[in-house]
Amino acid sequence: MNADKVQVFDTTLRDGEQVPGCKLNTHQKVLIAQRLDELGVDVIEAGFPISSPGDFASVQAIARIVKNATVCGLSRAVKSDIEAAARALEHAVKPRIHTGIGTSDSHIKYKFNSTREGVVERAVEAVSFAKTFVDDVEFYAEDAGRTDNEFLAYICSEAIKAGATVLNIPDTTGYCLPEAYGAKIKYLKENVQGIEKAILSCHCHNDLGLATANSIAGVMNGARQIECTINGVGERAGNTSLEEIVMVLRQHPYLNLDTNVDSKLLYSTSRMVSESMGMPVQPNKAIVGANAFAHSSGIHQDGVIKNRETYEIIDPKDVGVTESAIVLTARSGRAALAYRAKNLGYELTKLQLDDVYNEFLVFADRSKEVCDGDIHQIMENCKLNV
Ligand code: KIV
Ligand code: ZN
Repeated sequence: MNADKVQVFDTTLRDGEQVPGCKLNTHQKVLIAQRLDELGVDVIEAGFPISSPGDFASVQAIARIVKNATVCGLSRAVKSDIEAAARALEHAVKPRIHTGIGTSDSHIKYKFNSTREGVVERAVEAVSFAKTFVDDVEFYAEDAGRTDNEFLAYICSEAIKAGATVLNIPDTTGYCLPEAYGAKIKYLKENVQGIEKAILSCHCHNDLGLATANSIAGVMNGARQIECTINGVGERAGNTSLEEIVMVLRQHPYLNLDTNVDSKLLYSTSRMVSESMGMPVQPNKAIVGANAFAHSSGIHQDGVIKNRETYEIIDPKDVGVTESAIVLTARSGRAALAYRAKNLGYELTKLQLDDVYNEFLVFADRSKEVCDGDIHQIMENCKLNV
């Protein structure tokens, strides 16, 4: 059976770029947008055009160049924001305006000093106004994660009546547990009027390390778009990581959900974004971290050398990593040493391996990692040649 498609909405260039110190110039943004288009994302949120002339220029340049993906610009529920987004997106093949307003009681009271009726009115006006420029209008209910479900369903129904085709349900503060976020999506699927005319979108932040789990709970309950960033970059603890959601769905085919992303480009895209933003990827980051396919303890190495599947659920080639790494440390065993030595041309008998292993442990206790140069030295010390 063909898997249902989950749309991948990449917001690396908007929510991702809000990270302090990660500012990108227009040229860098255009290169990243082109790479995202090649990667196969469905929507590229290129920026927040009203926020600065530089961001406006970047959205405009991306709108001109992207051929496949929808190009989206963010705006608050403010006419001048929406006009700026519309102008910046003028040349896009597939333009989308993303507009919305805070819907939780704390946003309504402290940010807007307004009422529920007041924000519904602004939401409807914003969506209707955006609709005069483009067909594709996405409505966001900021802080939906902490918004009362009944009110959320009401404002979403009104947004659909005004013309919204996508409803973004952000867990802006990364507060929800997967069960609660999934239940929220299910409630909206069942209670928003006109929901058959729109798709629900998950936009989760990672304050409790739950962004990916929440997004997956969302699509398991009927959402069909996930908003995410490369390497999970974003405000505070970041956004849902694109590479994680793509691989979660691919590794669990029984969910019958998939994306259009070419997973073989994930690793190189991760490195490209990391270098452009000057933001290193943590070594233990799922899918794209330097250690994601590295094995260093003897028990694991022995298993992986016998059969990769013993300790790897993903073939590294599927995400663009050439091969798994067998890292030699003081925790490594004979099998790993023999494997690495063989790759360097040393075929060792059992007796030779015992000898070499003792010498190896002396090296390993002195350094964090035993590298190829050290292996040659160990062989020389043991009087072994290739
Ligand atoms: O986290 C959030 O609520 C957002 C919205 C502006 C979409 O980024
Ligand atoms: Zn966000």
